[in-house]
Amino acid sequence: MRLILLGPPGAGKGTQAQRIVEKHGIPQLSTGDMLRAAVSAGTEVGKQAKAVMDAGKLVSDDIVNAIVSERIDQADCANGFILDGYPRTLVQADSVEAMLSAKGIELSVVIELRVEDEILVGRVSGRYTCAQCGAGYHDENLKPKVEGVCDKCGSTHFKRRADDNPETVRTRLQAYYKDTSPLIGYYHAKGKLKSIDGMADIDKVTADIEAILASI
Ligand code: AP5
Repeated sequence: MRLILLGPPGAGKGTQAQRIVEKHGIPQLSTGDMLRAAVSAGTEVGKQAKAVMDAGKLVSDDIVNAIVSERIDQADCANGFILDGYPRTLVQADSVEAMLSAKGIELSVVIELRVEDEILVGRVSGRYTCAQCGAGYHDENLKPKVEGVCDKCGSTHFKRRADDNPETVRTRLQAYYKDTSPLIGYYHAKGKLKSIDGMADIDKVTADIEAILASI
């Protein structure tokens, strides 16, 4: 199974990708996570990406296409993968086509998560993660059971992303509408697109995704 999760910042792509990983045992390929890892490691790609990401703009197609192409060649992707946050431009979408056809494989489905802008700003601005295990939380929607302690690993250290503030989220939304939303028509024309309500509660969104995965 090779699927794309498509949607604006805060739509729930990462949240749902983690659940698909747990249920189906295929890896989550998040270009945002890969780029943040490159920034933390101080690699050449990370140096080029940092300022662009902090500003909420898109990293160049060449850089992102190269890191994904390298990643899907790894053994754990042989039985499928979830693309989370990629492709994000028509150039990247064409690159996915080329990568998959070179391997003689096809994309299974593109799942679009639809969420209104004001909800997205609130979701992203309130988001934080455990600094130790990466478990995701939210100031309002998803608090740890014991305040200040991670449910999963017990750590008391949390972090917020540099680009998760209301101003940068609005720039990220502009980039989504300008560069990424054309992919909705692109994949619809290919008969690959399934759109669901990303404003439903997290378990309902998971159930809707599972229904789509069961039907393909
Ligand atoms: P990236 O890391 O991909 O960020 P994004 O697309 O902006 O998406 P987010 O991670 O913010 O949101 P999400 O949809 O995963 O939401 P989540 O599940 O966390 O990209 C960051 C940057 O990297 C980009 O701006 C760009 O610079 C660069 N980049 C990355 N890929 C690139 C590419 N392909 N090309 C060029 N540049 C690229 O949920 C958000 C919050 O909402 C959480 O707190 C969660 O608990 C909560 N939540 C989730 N679902 C629900 C629900 N149903 N109800 C209530 N709350 C919910």
